[in-house]
Amino acid sequence: MKRLKNWDNKTWLSSITYISQFNKFLKNRINLNKNSKILDIGCGRANIISALQKKYKFRKKPIGIDIVANKDVKKNIVFKKIGALKYLKRQEKYDLILIKQTIHFFSKSGLNRLLNLAQKSLNNKGKILIFSLKTKNNKIPCFKKMRKNLEKSLKRDEVLFKIIKNNLKKISYTNFNFKVSISKQKYIRMIKERYISCLLNMSNKEINLGISEIKSKYKNQIKFTDTLKCISYRK
Ligand SMILES: C[S@@+](CC[C@H](N)C(=O)[O-])C[C@H]1O[C@@H](n2cnc3c(N)ncnc32)[C@H](O)[C@@H]1O
Repeated sequence: MKRLKNWDNKTWLSSITYISQFNKFLKNRINLNKNSKILDIGCGRANIISALQKKYKFRKKPIGIDIVANKDVKKNIVFKKIGALKYLKRQEKYDLILIKQTIHFFSKSGLNRLLNLAQKSLNNKGKILIFSLKTKNNKIPCFKKMRKNLEKSLKRDEVLFKIIKNNLKKISYTNFNFKVSISKQKYIRMIKERYISCLLNMSNKEINLGISEIKSKYKNQIKFTDTLKCISYRK
């Protein structure tokens, strides 16, 4: 798969409101304090752990790892450009391992290894929180070909959820909902920049056709709910 670079590049996913609502959601799931050690796997520009660092001023800065090093990764965290499987072999221990919208990049066996290593990298009472797009009735605005690719990827995610359940066993589920209101113009820019992995392998022609479809299908302001399934595991 080609590399994803614009996921959180000035999109609602990097907006102050999104990050603050997301971190409020985290707060209800895990007790963080100055001594908490955090690892964000597939951190992108590290907006989430950067905001957490500002709030909690952790003694050990949160670590964010990603296979892509974006030039505007947040500076108040420790960023490492490295694949998750390689990094987790160090077996350092964390209180929170966050894996947000990243599992779909792994093969089935890769995900098994990831979960295995992540469990071994947890402190006593540590938590793994996995976030992934909800698979049923997903509201992300799409053109036809994009929807087809997205549905295919969400079907595969359901298989990955089964792997997570078999591997982690003691898990609980909740949903994180974010109400998005975005201008059509901005959303078209996101599509052009291939913000989501179901757009990565499309030709320019397919993207341009899709944009015409979005132009005629949606009003000037696009509103929808972005829902993530949250899978929580506690050691
Ligand atoms: C959809 S983005 C999510 C970014 C961020 N977690 C967020 O929610 O805003 C997925 C990220 O996972 C990264 N990624 C993919 N495979 C990875 C791997 N094996 N190890 C570490 N990061 C990976 C991608 O480069 C990308 O930045």
